[in-house]
Amino acid sequence: MRIDVIDFYFFSGTGNTLLVVREMSKVFIEKGLKVNLYRLEKTNPSDINLDYTIGIAFPVAVQGTFPFIWRFIKSLPETDKNTPLFIVDTLASFSGGIKGNIKRIISKKGYKPIGIKEITMPSNLLPKKLNIEKNNRKTERGLRKARRYAVDLLEEKTRWYSNPLSILLSIISQSEKPWRLFRQLYRFTIDEEKCIKCGLCVKLCPMENISMLSYPVFDDKCTFCMRCISFCPTEAIYIPNRRLERYHAVKAGNY
Ligand SMILES: Cc1cc2nc3c(=O)[nH]c(=O)nc-3n(C[C@H](O)[C@H](O)[C@H](O)COP(=O)(O)O)c2cc1C
Ligand code: SF4
Ligand code: SF4
Repeated sequence: MRIDVIDFYFFSGTGNTLLVVREMSKVFIEKGLKVNLYRLEKTNPSDINLDYTIGIAFPVAVQGTFPFIWRFIKSLPETDKNTPLFIVDTLASFSGGIKGNIKRIISKKGYKPIGIKEITMPSNLLPKKLNIEKNNRKTERGLRKARRYAVDLLEEKTRWYSNPLSILLSIISQSEKPWRLFRQLYRFTIDEEKCIKCGLCVKLCPMENISMLSYPVFDDKCTFCMRCISFCPTEAIYIPNRRLERYHAVKAGNY
């Protein structure tokens, strides 16, 4: 199999996945490939070009991933071209519900699953206290792994192991229940004294869950990607009675 062009679709809440995608893209480009980067949240799956190798990158959430990423994967068009497809996901420690189900979905649609890699990066899930040195070390290790994975993909050394338990575990993040629970437990709230009404949170939200009235107002569609709370320039978004530091791996301008 020869890879010439990679269409890389990615979503990143707070920048970890974006760093990994950039690192892998650098390797691909160094090796003479063409890489096209696309925002997954802005892509209609039916517009995907089936003549190129496809990469999909996203963060792990609730042992699987966000429902809108599942919907994207499930809406990929069928192909009779045996289109090669690889996955890279980033996570804080463990994911049980990614590998098996995605392999099953894309194989049924006619894609050739060429590799999957889960890359540990710092946790962005409501950290109470950030340990910057530890996070930097984790990021360095993660990016080394990303480079290695990119090389392995090109040298056809990747595998896609999965087990049936993974399909079972994937059901949790695909259902609405955990997300509803999160919305009840963690009510994002605006500190009107801190909010400068810049509108960044509205612009960044992939779910169109925030509207600007006299201050930003949250609807009930939050998927807890952490973008708004992490990138608000004045830390005006908070969760009542919860100590919280904001993690982000890149600056807001990258989005
Ligand atoms: C709502 C939510 C749920 C998460 N669930 C998991 C999980 O089940 N397992 C895990 O290892 N990491 C979990 N994480 C951590 C993220 O997967 C990890 O920090 C990821 O690298 C973030 O990527 P991003 O910066 O591209 O958004 C979760 C994060 C969030 C926000
Ligand atoms: S990003 Fe922060 S400061 Fe800007 S509008 Fe949203 S809450 Fe207010
Ligand atoms: S409201 Fe904030 S955390 Fe929720 S989906 Fe939108 S940007 Fe992400």
